[in-house]
Amino acid sequence: MKKLENKVWLSSPTMHGDELKYMQKAYETNWMSTIGENINEIEKSVCEKLGCKYAVALSCGTSALHLAIKIAGVKSGDKVFCSDLTFAATVNPVLYEKAVPVFIDTEYDTWNMDPKALEKAFEIYPDVKVIVVANLYGTPAKFEEILSIAEKHNAIVVEDAAESFGATYKNKQTGTFGKYNIISFNGNKIITGSSGGMLLTDDEKAAENARKWSTQSRENAPWYQHEEMGYNYRMSNVIAGVVRGQLPYLGEHIAKKKEIFERYKEGLKDLPVTMNPFDEEIMVPNYWLSCMLINKEAMCHQVRTDTETSYVSEKGKTCPSEILEMLAKNNAEGRPIWKPMHLQPIYKNNDFVSIGYDVGEDIFDRGLCLPSDIKMTADEQNTIIEIIRACFK
Ligand SMILES: Cc1ncc(COP(=O)(O)O)c(C=O)c1O
Repeated sequence: MKKLENKVWLSSPTMHGDELKYMQKAYETNWMSTIGENINEIEKSVCEKLGCKYAVALSCGTSALHLAIKIAGVKSGDKVFCSDLTFAATVNPVLYEKAVPVFIDTEYDTWNMDPKALEKAFEIYPDVKVIVVANLYGTPAKFEEILSIAEKHNAIVVEDAAESFGATYKNKQTGTFGKYNIISFNGNKIITGSSGGMLLTDDEKAAENARKWSTQSRENAPWYQHEEMGYNYRMSNVIAGVVRGQLPYLGEHIAKKKEIFERYKEGLKDLPVTMNPFDEEIMVPNYWLSCMLINKEAMCHQVRTDTETSYVSEKGKTCPSEILEMLAKNNAEGRPIWKPMHLQPIYKNNDFVSIGYDVGEDIFDRGLCLPSDIKMTADEQNTIIEIIRACFK
């Protein structure tokens, strides 16, 4: 097997040069604060790209989610239905408001919130008014079903499109399905500002509130007048410069991520594995991370405690822990699937609604994220495919 000379990352920033130009301009014109042309431009561009009316540039996706949760009217003690198989950032803002997440299990078709489990959750908790839905690894959730359930129960959807910027569902961009939606420009995302995020909505009052709350809730007065609690959540014009330089490359990044996904699919096709799934008829993912799921019969014995993992090597079989170890030994970065929220110690007392079988736990056990960096060469990826194949020998 060839050795990887340079480290291959899971998903690292890919710069193009224009970022520096816009950052430099912010510096030269002294707009080194949370006001400026870069912020205005990216808010406009994202609205045009996604087809939403308002975009508010914020310090990160998490702060955008926090404001979305507040704007959706979540109050202390309220139950909120949340995606279960996701990054903790989807759910933390619910806790900021002292509300109580109820986790909804995952389906196998897209690895997102299962509409059937959501329907069941409304039978148990008919009064829930807010649902937070994440699009995992760049694949849209089943919005038709989820939105119709939400409508039936008069609930607001907050869409966490942090990982899926540029993906579409029925020709509509993700980040536009909820009443309030967010994207992230974190360093590992499809495009980045090094950090940053946005709240997206068609609701003018919500956008106004987000702007106000994110800048310490100043009232319109000649002095610092405050009627509401505020936050320091606005995006810097320097960070916006990086985002502005990246935005024209979104399509190129998605095309490269797709090539990576296709190459894995082809290179692993005769192994007992599947790639992270989506419905080709109605959705186009942004392919942010390529992931694979090992068939049950090809899993060797793997044990995971809260902080450690071990496995027993077996001929013809493997497991995520073994593959991740082999990738790391060979200079490539993979990752376990997000550990489901209902299995996290912090949420041990929170409810988890599934339709019988725990799908999230199963995907966590058998799945892993593969190196998906768009600077990875075809040669490097072929070496990674060989490393994975060797684990099944
Ligand atoms: C699903 C999901 N939601 C929210 C976030 C939070 O975004 P940020 O890191 O910009 O706060 C991330 C990524 O970090 C994410 O993957």
